[in-house]
Amino acid sequence: MPVTDILMIGPYPAWDMEDLEAKYRMHKLWEATDKDALLTGKADAIRAIATRGELGASAALMARLPKLEIVSCYGVGTDAIDLGHARANGIRVTNTPDVLTEDVADIGIGLLLSVARNIPQADAYVRNGSWTKGNMQLVTRVCGKKLGLVGMGRVGAAVAKRAAAFDCAISYYDINRRGDLPYAYVGDLVDLARDSEFLIVTLAGGESTKNIINASVLEALGPDGILVNISRGSTVDETALLATLESKTIKGAGLDVFWSEPAIDERFLKLGNVVLQPHHASGTVETRKAMGRLVRDNLAAHFSGQALLTPVV
Ligand code: 8YV
Repeated sequence: MPVTDILMIGPYPAWDMEDLEAKYRMHKLWEATDKDALLTGKADAIRAIATRGELGASAALMARLPKLEIVSCYGVGTDAIDLGHARANGIRVTNTPDVLTEDVADIGIGLLLSVARNIPQADAYVRNGSWTKGNMQLVTRVCGKKLGLVGMGRVGAAVAKRAAAFDCAISYYDINRRGDLPYAYVGDLVDLARDSEFLIVTLAGGESTKNIINASVLEALGPDGILVNISRGSTVDETALLATLESKTIKGAGLDVFWSEPAIDERFLKLGNVVLQPHHASGTVETRKAMGRLVRDNLAAHFSGQALLTPVV
């Protein structure tokens, strides 16, 4: 049987790499010193792309691979993959929904608690000896507060379930109203922000949600408000957010995602009212094993003529 050639955009954990390398001929774009030469040299061989949520696959890249049949994404978000190009050219696309939902939701709550209760600052307070000189300043309660969810898809619903156990009053904004869920729908994002003490963003990325958390939303959230972003950096107007955090016109932010990853805007690093994560909400061994498995199973299904497990296109 001929060996199938796959282009990888970025690495996966060792357990996935070993399995992929045993079954396919893997071409590692991130390791290539001359990426252009790799793409030109293998253009007639590559039948699949294995990518990650934040790395995606552009139309320009796909257009260079005339034999491309499938893009398999390690991640649920496909906003960095040009789905229009894929659709127009008969290229299948798969992602990894469901398997990461619970871990991402955990981090949504974790970041909220971290910012409101100053958990990183409290850790530093003990370590640097400040505690021996006096008690730490008082912090903000989370339980029983008003939480606004921006996005009520799989992750939004999982965050809401957790927040309900904290007795939070839950409202949400989304393009679609979820008749199957008991939470209050608010059709205007500024209204949601004004009526919420905390906002957690779980929306999918892409053009339609770009900068949806803008200066007006942040202003409406107000000086006691906390913003958490576990979606994509692109959903938040970062210029507005940085200005708001620097002038303390919101209380703080918990951020897993940024416009420019991993080299984020250095102004974030100087802020005392943020808790930062390296786009790691799905980064548990358990979830990452399930994500890798799904990527590999989708590729195997495609190349053996079976139905894809989690098709996007
Ligand atoms: C990343 C994600 O894919 O699911 C998504 O859309 O952004 C993440 O799970 C993950 O960081 C792997 O690179």
